[in-house]
Amino acid sequence: MRLTRRYRFSASHRLDVPSLSVEDNRRLFGKCNNPWGHGHDYVVDVTVEGSPDASGQVVGRAALDGLVREKILDRFDHKNLNQDVAELAARVPTTENVAEAIREMLAKDWPLAARLARVRVAETDRNIFELEIR
Ligand code: NI
Repeated sequence: MRLTRRYRFSASHRLDVPSLSVEDNRRLFGKCNNPWGHGHDYVVDVTVEGSPDASGQVVGRAALDGLVREKILDRFDHKNLNQDVAELAARVPTTENVAEAIREMLAKDWPLAARLARVRVAETDRNIFELEIR
C-alpha cells in the first residue's frame, strides 16, 4: 500500500549555466534567466510504500512529517536555491535537479520501515516532476 503526503515550500532561483554565454543562457531559459531570480511555491509529494503495521498505518504521519521537515523543508523553505542548499551548489536549480536532490536527501539514512517509493515536485500547476524509486 502506498501513502502520499503533501508538503509545500517557497523558494527563489535563477536558471543559469555558468559555462554558457549570456546570450545562450537567455535563449535557453528565457525569463527564468533574469539576473535577480524569481520565486515559486513548490509542492512536494512524498510517497512511501509498505504494509500497514500493528497500528494499521503504512507509516506514522508524525514520523514522516518530522523527517521531511528536518531533511527538506527546513533546508529549502524561503531559501535561494542557487546559494543556500549545499546539495544544489553544483547543479542548475531546475525543478528536475531539485527533485533529484530531494530524493537523494530523503533516501540518505532513510529511517522508516515503509520504503520511499516516489518523490514528486510541482513547480507550477503546469510543471510537475516525478521520480519513481525502485
Ligand atoms: Ni523558476
